[in-house]
Amino acid sequence: MAEEVKSIAILGGTGDLGWGLARQWSRAGYQVLIGSRTLEKGEAAAKALVDEFPDLNVTGHENADAASKADVVVMTVPFEHQASTLETVREALSGKILVDTTVPLVPPKVGTVQLPEGGCAAQRAQAVLGDDTQVVSAFQNVGAMHLREDHQIACDVLVTGNKRAARDTVISLVEAVGLRGWHAGPLANAAAAEALTSVLITINRHHKIEGAGILITGEATDSE
Ligand SMILES: NC(=O)c1ccc[n+]([C@@H]2O[C@H](COP(=O)([O-])OP(=O)(O)OC[C@H]3O[C@@H](n4cnc5c(N)ncnc54)[C@H](OP(=O)(O)O)[C@@H]3O)[C@@H](O)[C@H]2O)c1
Repeated sequence: MAEEVKSIAILGGTGDLGWGLARQWSRAGYQVLIGSRTLEKGEAAAKALVDEFPDLNVTGHENADAASKADVVVMTVPFEHQASTLETVREALSGKILVDTTVPLVPPKVGTVQLPEGGCAAQRAQAVLGDDTQVVSAFQNVGAMHLREDHQIACDVLVTGNKRAARDTVISLVEAVGLRGWHAGPLANAAAAEALTSVLITINRHHKIEGAGILITGEATDSE
């Protein structure tokens, strides 16, 4: 069963994906705490949203402060800074769900699948954080540009994690963004979603698509 979530911290929420998610979740009624390495940058990102939509409950913070004050924490920094950023918030994440969005892209060959040692970025996050935090992986296949605008997004979200209840919680956050989330199995399966992003980048380039996504076909009649 999904746990009730009122507040969401977004580490690196000043960037492309994080700010797009902040925009969507704050407009869906959540309290959103935008995290940054610097308070000033976090506050500027929050101000940009409140300037556009004055009623939103969005504030800027340093990453660790945001993580300590929110029910659920979302990780949106580039792969090369994932582990070092998690180290700075590890204590604050104890007992919480961390939603990892990381795609292990290794420039310059970002259109080639290059998964890290140990399986995938989400498993690496779990290894850094230990068992006190439940890592759930999601959003790897959604182009940030879609979240920063108001339009229907043609992309489903594969949600992986080792605990069913934690996946349920994250699926409810996916639905709050207006997307369909699917139970896609244990955290090890995040490798598939992370790898798919390099495939989508290649498709975008070859077919001149801005932000191709994935859609699961078939009618869901029930979930186990
Ligand atoms: N962009 C997309 O369409 C998309 C889609 C799906 C998944 N993703 C994944 O989401 C994550 C974020 O992608 P993005 O495109 O949003 O990234 P981004 O805009 O390049 O960066 C996000 C934030 O990361 C922080 N950051 C930058 N350098 C850092 C460092 N040295 N140490 C710690 N934090 C640092 C910055 O926040 P501060 O300067 O405020 O600290 C920055 O605003 C990546 O793992 C990416 O693979 C992205």
